[in-house]
Amino acid sequence: MVKARRFVLAKHFVGEPKEDDFELVEEELPDLKDGEIRVEAVALSVDPYMRPYSVNHPVGTTMFGSQVARIVESRSEAYPVGKLVVGQFGWRERAVVDVGKQDLTGLPKPYIVPDFKGLSKSLALGVLGMTGNTAYFGFLELCKPKAGETVAVTGAAGAVGSTVGQIAKIKGCKVIGFAGSDDKVKWLTSELGFDHAFNYKTTDIDEALKKAAPNGIDCYFDNLRSSNGQLSGNNSRWKVSLSNAGRIGGSRESTSCCNGSSRANLSTTKRSPEASRICRQLLSRCCRERMLARRW
Ligand SMILES: NC(=O)c1ccc[n+]([C@@H]2O[C@H](COP(=O)([O-])OP(=O)(O)OC[C@H]3O[C@@H](n4cnc5c(N)ncnc54)[C@H](OP(=O)(O)O)[C@@H]3O)[C@@H](O)[C@H]2O)c1
Repeated sequence: MVKARRFVLAKHFVGEPKEDDFELVEEELPDLKDGEIRVEAVALSVDPYMRPYSVNHPVGTTMFGSQVARIVESRSEAYPVGKLVVGQFGWRERAVVDVGKQDLTGLPKPYIVPDFKGLSKSLALGVLGMTGNTAYFGFLELCKPKAGETVAVTGAAGAVGSTVGQIAKIKGCKVIGFAGSDDKVKWLTSELGFDHAFNYKTTDIDEALKKAAPNGIDCYFDNLRSSNGQLSGNNSRWKVSLSNAGRIGGSRESTSCCNGSSRANLSTTKRSPEASRICRQLLSRCCRERMLARRW
């Protein structure tokens, strides 16, 4: 028998997650049956969505999420020993996974990590995985940017926002980023090549937008979806700043859909009641896009 440890949700979070909200428990893994593999974690993902999603999971649930794991035993030809896979195994040290059965959960099946040519395999959980996909498809498919257009990004120094800004630069756009500290702002302009970046905590945003985007914003990629005080797709200043053909995109949980970083530590998954008309329209479109995500 192989022993394995996993983190379970010991308490629902109040405010920011704390160490004693989790409990580390040990279990014995069963022997493999046909169609199963045993994996050992190489890298776990800790994401903003986990905080709000946890509300819908009972105490005792194994913390969910994706990981890069090495196959150490296999009874499936498609998943040979030694390969690395990305799968929704949760916060587990080791796991036995049935890779043969039909997926009824809606979660993607584990996939074998391609050759990253020497790059860290943990990038499969970041820019070469869900984060990169969110930025790439969320921006290119929803905003459909064209060279020469002006793109604004909130949460610009975050995992998704920083990737969106770099893709926008590759596409020949002018990029304006908003972040919450001077250090982040400096990083965005000096290292990532953003054309303008502002600390939204200390800047008059209307003035910043007038100066950096005198003709309006063509594409607005919102990572926050806050409603009061902070930058948001719900905020009227964005509506007036959007050019006539302006498009709004977002990480699937931000402007258009579920949560957004500004709501990451709230104890609710409900959308704010003041969601604007434009966001409600986008919501239905983005939910459709999300459902179609497997086509990508
Ligand atoms: N990462 C993914 O793979 C992925 C996939 C799908 C969807 N998403 C969604 O995309 C959005 C951005 O994700 P991310 O991974 O880029 O996030 P991240 O790297 O954790 O960045 C989030 C940033 O949002 C800003 N923020 C503003 N108000 C906040 C608040 N009240 N609480 C926490 N953060 C706040 C903070 O930056 P400032 O200090 O600069 O304000 C923070 O650093 C989230 O809604 C997430 O759920 C992410």
